[in-house]
Amino acid sequence: MEKILIVDDESFIRENIERILTEDGYRPFSCDNGQQAVALVSDEEIDLVLLDLNLGSKSGLDVLRELKDIDPEVLVIIITGYGTVESAVKALKMGAYDYIKKPFKADAIRLIVRLALETKSLKRELRKLRRDDREQFNSTEMIGTSLALCEVYRQICEVAKHEHATVLITGESGTGKELAARAVHNLSARKDRPFIEINCGSLPHNLLESELFGHERGAFTDAKTRKIGLFEEADGGTIFLDEIGEMDIGLQVKLLRVLEDRKIRRLGGVRNIDIDVRVVSATNTNLKEAIVARTFREDLYYRLNVFPLHMPPLRERSEDIPRLLDHFLQRFCREFNKPPREISREALDLLMHYSWPGNVRELRNLVERICIMYDVAVIGPKCLPKELFTEAETADFVPATDIPPGGIVLEEVMARLEKELIVRAVEITGGNIAKSARLLNIPRGTLRYKLRKYDHGKSS
Ligand SMILES: Nc1ncnc2c1ncn2[C@@H]1O[C@H](COP(=O)(O)OP(=O)(O)OP(=O)(O)O)[C@@H](O)[C@H]1O
Ligand SMILES: [Mg+2]
Repeated sequence: MEKILIVDDESFIRENIERILTEDGYRPFSCDNGQQAVALVSDEEIDLVLLDLNLGSKSGLDVLRELKDIDPEVLVIIITGYGTVESAVKALKMGAYDYIKKPFKADAIRLIVRLALETKSLKRELRKLRRDDREQFNSTEMIGTSLALCEVYRQICEVAKHEHATVLITGESGTGKELAARAVHNLSARKDRPFIEINCGSLPHNLLESELFGHERGAFTDAKTRKIGLFEEADGGTIFLDEIGEMDIGLQVKLLRVLEDRKIRRLGGVRNIDIDVRVVSATNTNLKEAIVARTFREDLYYRLNVFPLHMPPLRERSEDIPRLLDHFLQRFCREFNKPPREISREALDLLMHYSWPGNVRELRNLVERICIMYDVAVIGPKCLPKELFTEAETADFVPATDIPPGGIVLEEVMARLEKELIVRAVEITGGNIAKSARLLNIPRGTLRYKLRKYDHGKSS
């Protein structure tokens, strides 16, 4: 039975609400002042508070603050009289759930209370789900509790249950695709069978083919003995085809056939061998573009992409950064036998606002480097590489913007601005092309081309 506390200094209002709530099957408590309200919320597991803002002695807003301090989860609905809507808005900003104006009808109270409690139980449910998924992930080394990552955990748990489903993991470099692939395997019924990994970009295609499918003795000049392929080795388990976008188009046809028939044939062999393998593949390239460019087969793409998993880039889940930093700091300090470290507020601020083009791998490598290079108890901005600062400055850099009454020709203005910035970069670096290109974050070739263009503009 949900417990609801009514805080109002007018006794008839308290009694009126108590009666309504009792009828609806809730357990009401009531009091007429802030101190008692605070005491009740600390002693009882109160689910919802109906709080009058005009309590005489103590301001309702102060009471609200105290209640939220004791129990940040407690739901508070504000009761306001005439002319106090402004304070109600303030209360909402302070975390009140909603407000209701006096005088109110019984049905209005019923509705607002029911909705508030439903929201609360939904939230609790959601959190529990997130916790359950996370617990399963304790065994997989994946760190992070952002909503984006929890959604990934949920999908991994789901796909792990379907032990034949083919999975395609996409995401930028360093976002944890390999960890996700291992998690799919480790959380599935196949977990005690092999997890075999192969990087499709690491071998020339004929070698990759014999790695994957194996060969019979004499299948080609160097095939002195029979060799079992990775698909056979992975039997009953999972094969992880990393960088699938790099696979040769001829080999793609063969892989497609394997996925369709669930059989392989060793190179030079005559017999088809049944295999029971879950295929998980990963790529950080855009396969749709590769299909358009005809370097990737569309039919294979659909075969692989039965269950898509997308790993979000770190910059879209910066809330995970503190935990990841902590995790890697502990790990590397232990590994290098160094005392534990902390990160200063300023340094953390820079790390949180950095764009992490290399994602978690970049963060991991940075922490490792810091642990090796600096013997300090607190890691401050001085220990951080310069990218983190230049990026922060760039984000703030805004060129003068104003539009005269007669309007502008955008393209001309842009061209002029570009030229000014390029000339300025060359000036700053004393004419060093490589440094200028770095300052502008453009390829050297592009910079040379543009400079030549301006030069021609001058002479003509
Ligand atoms: N959520 C995470 N928690 C802890 N470590 C992580 C997480 N995500 C990635 N890592 C670590 O970051 C590094 C890169 O991860 P992983 O190799 O899985 O990335 P990837 O997406 O396969 O990258 P690439 O496309 O470059 O192969 C690894 O050291 C991995 O352990
Ligand atoms: Mg990888």
